[in-house]
Amino acid sequence: MTKHFKAGIIGTGSAFPEKKLTNFDLEKMVETSDEWISKRTGIKERFIIDENMPLSVLASEASKKAVEDAGINVEDIDLIIATTITPDYLSPSLACCVQKDIGAINAAAFDVNAACTGFVYALQMAQGLIVSGIHKNILIVSAEALTRAVDFKDRNTCVLFGDGAGAAVISRVEDGTGIESVHLGAIGEMGSVLTIPCFYSTEEDRSKRGEGMDRVIWMDGSEVFVFASRIMSDATISILEKANTHIDDIKYIFPHQANIRILQNAAKRLGVPMERVYSNLETTGNISSASIPVCLDEASKKKMLQKGDKLILVAFGGGLTYGASLVSWSK
Ligand code: UT7
Repeated sequence: MTKHFKAGIIGTGSAFPEKKLTNFDLEKMVETSDEWISKRTGIKERFIIDENMPLSVLASEASKKAVEDAGINVEDIDLIIATTITPDYLSPSLACCVQKDIGAINAAAFDVNAACTGFVYALQMAQGLIVSGIHKNILIVSAEALTRAVDFKDRNTCVLFGDGAGAAVISRVEDGTGIESVHLGAIGEMGSVLTIPCFYSTEEDRSKRGEGMDRVIWMDGSEVFVFASRIMSDATISILEKANTHIDDIKYIFPHQANIRILQNAAKRLGVPMERVYSNLETTGNISSASIPVCLDEASKKKMLQKGDKLILVAFGGGLTYGASLVSWSK
């Protein structure tokens, strides 16, 4: 008889560029202050990728660490899903660059764009592909170089974003732990509140941006803020209902790190103390889809997680997209 198995996270890794950009550095670049940024966002500093460094280098570093942490050989990886909205190239995909760099010769590879929700989207794909038996060991690598996609003259966006990479290996687990449930959604109708043009953009969209800044992030911060505060708690409640689990049984919530006030609002709505809401915003800023795997890796390395701990991963982002997952920790 075949043993019952689930898909679980069996290894994590992360990587950051060397250089940091502090709020005090930003004070010299744009009309802002450390006090405003700290109070309104919770961010103090973020990492900034060097001009000459491809994002794939960071993504590959995080991936190698995750594979090592998982205790498997890189040749055992049979699929790489990279999530990013700031790839070095559209082709080859970031996933293919990582495949080459780490020598994952037996892996298929493709990129996913679900903006900041990318990791949670990829997690559902990985779960389905593993539980169905199609793949055995999937590497998800979420990497972003958002400082390359902001206008450093636009104080509404440039103070928020940073660069970094997080990775996780998803494999069969047979001990009852693993991904319990994932709930995804999108509200395309609200897509225009956060845009990054690529090969085409409307005149209206171009007029929102500074001269010669056609391909940078533009965001209606307040609209995103209201959506985010609501969706973080709604998606969490949906996933708890789907998995028939109570919020008190959740050890930690790992939310997408966008703004500490969004996390506080969601925690309040859910009646969860902030000690159970993981945050590293102060030192990383918003690193889009990389934020959840980076947080998981940090918490794992700090020995905050034990096998069987129930965790909620919850994110929202451009698209607009959102998603939540309930995971029973497998390491
Ligand atoms: O990953 C998903 C994507 N992004 C997000 O989740 C972001 C969601 N939104 C937010 O986090 C917040 O809306 C922001 C941090 C972007 C803005 O905070 P806010 O408290 O909503 O500020 P606001 O947009 O209502 O602006 C308040 C004031 C304005 O000045 P006036 O019009 O009141 O004179 C802004 O011009 O703050 C001003 N302001 C700034 N001042 C200093 C906006 N950005 C800055 C800044 N430094 N960097």
